[in-house]
Amino acid sequence: MSKEINDILKNDHRDFDHGKLEDNFGNNPITLFNQWFQYAFENNVQESNAMIIATLGQDGFTSSRVVYMKELLEEGFVFYTNYESKKAQDIAFSDKISALFFWTEIERQVRIKGVVEKVPEELSDLYFDSRPRSSQLGAWASSQSAKLKDRETLEDKLKEFDKQFEGKPVPRPKFWGGYVLKPIYFEFWQGRPSRLHDRICFEKKEDHSWEIFRINP
Ligand SMILES: Cc1cc2nc3c(=O)[nH]c(=O)nc-3n(C[C@H](O)[C@H](O)[C@H](O)COP(=O)(O)O)c2cc1C
Repeated sequence: MSKEINDILKNDHRDFDHGKLEDNFGNNPITLFNQWFQYAFENNVQESNAMIIATLGQDGFTSSRVVYMKELLEEGFVFYTNYESKKAQDIAFSDKISALFFWTEIERQVRIKGVVEKVPEELSDLYFDSRPRSSQLGAWASSQSAKLKDRETLEDKLKEFDKQFEGKPVPRPKFWGGYVLKPIYFEFWQGRPSRLHDRICFEKKEDHSWEIFRINP
């Protein structure tokens, strides 16, 4: 089996030719991200708000997983999760994380580095209230990242919470809410022919302005 995989990989020499970046990026990376996101949306990029975040664990290993960007604020990228999960424990250890968007259909990736903090409770409440009831109950039922005896245990917990909140709105559990990633560094990457890709970086300076520069592919 592995031989077949390696044959496929060996013969895969696709080139990138979707687009190029002119030297005209503005001076605000959030604005540029906004434009890129809209472009991704117009080009029917699947899961365009899926962002891979990497956190640092106390054991010195990084770990990555996909979360959904649910809001883009002037100050950064908001995602929602369980505040007792593995990623939340990592964030308590180190609030410095990275995020990655990969949009295959338009041959672009955006890499972000920044610092995360919890969003105000009201924002988490607002988002939680907007979720389908089934997802709200799911948040109560799942001790995210903790060991689970079997699937049945989880489904039983869901039923219990369904009963507990029968006929009532499901409140947001205190252990569930949002984080905002406040970026200090961006790289906007556009695939180009012959592996001579465009890479445009924004680095936040002490006076909060952004230094903009290209780097080699
Ligand atoms: C497309 C996709 C979207 C996801 N969105 C979220 C999300 O918004 N929040 C979340 O907590 N987990 C989300 N997950 C699940 C996470 O990838 C991960 O399994 C979970 O958060 C537990 O991670 P942890 O154990 O490292 O904390 C998503 C997974 C996929 C594949």
